[in-house]
Amino acid sequence: MSVPMNDTLILRREEEEDDEERRRQRKLEEALEIKSLRRIISAYLKISYPEAAEEDVRRYERSFKMLPPAHKALLSHYPSKFERLRRCISANSYFIFDMLQEFEPPLDLSQDVDVCDGLHENIPSDHDDSRVTNCSSQSTSASQSMCVSESDHSCLGLVEGSNRVCNSPVGEEKHGGHGESINGSHTLSLEYTKQIHNCHANNAIDSNGNVSSSMRTWLDPSIQLHVPLVDVDKVRCIIRNIVRDWAAEGQKERDQCYRPILEELDSLFVDRCKESPPACLVPGAGLGRLALEISCRGFISQGNEFSYYMMICSSFILNVCQTAGEWTIYPWIHSNCNSLSDDDQLRPVSIPDIHPASAGITEGFSMCGGDFVEVYNDPSQVGAWDAVVTCFFIDTAHNIVEYIEIISRILKEGGVWINMGPLLYHFADVYGQGDDMSIELSLEDVKRVALHYGFHIEKEKTIETTYTTNPRSMMQNRYYAAFWTMRKRSARIEHSTP
Ligand SMILES: C[S@@+](CC[C@H](N)C(=O)[O-])C[C@H]1O[C@@H](n2cnc3c(N)ncnc32)[C@H](O)[C@@H]1O
Repeated sequence: MSVPMNDTLILRREEEEDDEERRRQRKLEEALEIKSLRRIISAYLKISYPEAAEEDVRRYERSFKMLPPAHKALLSHYPSKFERLRRCISANSYFIFDMLQEFEPPLDLSQDVDVCDGLHENIPSDHDDSRVTNCSSQSTSASQSMCVSESDHSCLGLVEGSNRVCNSPVGEEKHGGHGESINGSHTLSLEYTKQIHNCHANNAIDSNGNVSSSMRTWLDPSIQLHVPLVDVDKVRCIIRNIVRDWAAEGQKERDQCYRPILEELDSLFVDRCKESPPACLVPGAGLGRLALEISCRGFISQGNEFSYYMMICSSFILNVCQTAGEWTIYPWIHSNCNSLSDDDQLRPVSIPDIHPASAGITEGFSMCGGDFVEVYNDPSQVGAWDAVVTCFFIDTAHNIVEYIEIISRILKEGGVWINMGPLLYHFADVYGQGDDMSIELSLEDVKRVALHYGFHIEKEKTIETTYTTNPRSMMQNRYYAAFWTMRKRSARIEHSTP
């Protein structure tokens, strides 16, 4: 009798130890998550973005002061330009602060965290995780990560079990290489419901730029971190992305990149009906404009995005905006180079160019946060989509073959993959990080791999375009991007093919 009793005791003890280990692991992940979120918020906030911009202005002033008097006299308008620059920085900072005020962090960011250094080194500095807050998991399609806000607000959800570490490179050369990822042990989910949220948080900065008592405690400067300049660069990149997606100035770029995709979807799904709209996934959705446009054309559209920087901003524009042109930003102030005039550099841009909530969204529009590979590798995703649209996305892969394999798997038989973009592999120049795989295929090889995974090419062309470029700059980087439509063969045809 005593033997089974002992066995039971041993088993119970092992279970308790397992539980304890899981609790410890969860605590650690939570602490890492808080740290990375604080870092992102810090990059957006007072001690980073505005300070770095102010430091630039001080540098211009120092150079100006070094000029001989005769040269200074020729540039007598410079001091007033510096003051204008400062006003523009303030305006951008106000916008950013408004945006952060609306952000619902998935964790209590004001709590003390203690993360041992050795472990921290393994986690990407801008790695973003989240845990479920108060959302009801209606689990649409993307495994447990899908989390639908029942009420009126975006919601953050949790996916257990993923643990990839990602250090994507950062730099303006890489289109949208924001270098931050929602991966690691959790995946963030953020979903916009059709009932778009329309409430404003209390304004929290007074006219002197001081934070009022109504502010969220996690915005308190005392818990913000000093972040490296690369993080500030990410904020500047986001500002440029806002123009691409949500300003009239971005229309030309959207016409080059998004319009061909939208026209292709229109012609491929001529007979789509309101009662049963086709489902379209947009991985790497950035700030969400393309996903929204697809939704407005009668598709159940889902954007997928793993960057908290992007998600915070797209959520703000999609969920909070009450009218077109609600905010004014100054996206081009951060470079003195290649300007035709100071007025060009300091010009305001009003955003958004449309009111998203009035744009005519089709029921089911959503944004799912998380790593494309982790979220859409889930068995529930197999054959779930009528169309997958990738725009400036496939070269963000560590392993592009894996992306293609997943795209094929999640498409229905006969479903289409529309792609637009270059092959500027994001991890191609990440040196010295042994674990960072980067498979950099030529276009020819990409097509060969796609054929292997059951695609056939229906349309192919090259499209000349820019990416987040200042349209009035004397320097315009151009891509000769690959556009294609590929269709997933049906297994029946596959088998009957000799
Ligand atoms: C170059 S941007 C393109 C954004 C948008 N499609 C556009 O055309 O403006 C690539 C986007 O993919 C996102 N991304 C990169 N890797 C991802 C991944 N594994 N899963 C989900 N999103 C990813 C990045 O955060 C970034 O927003």
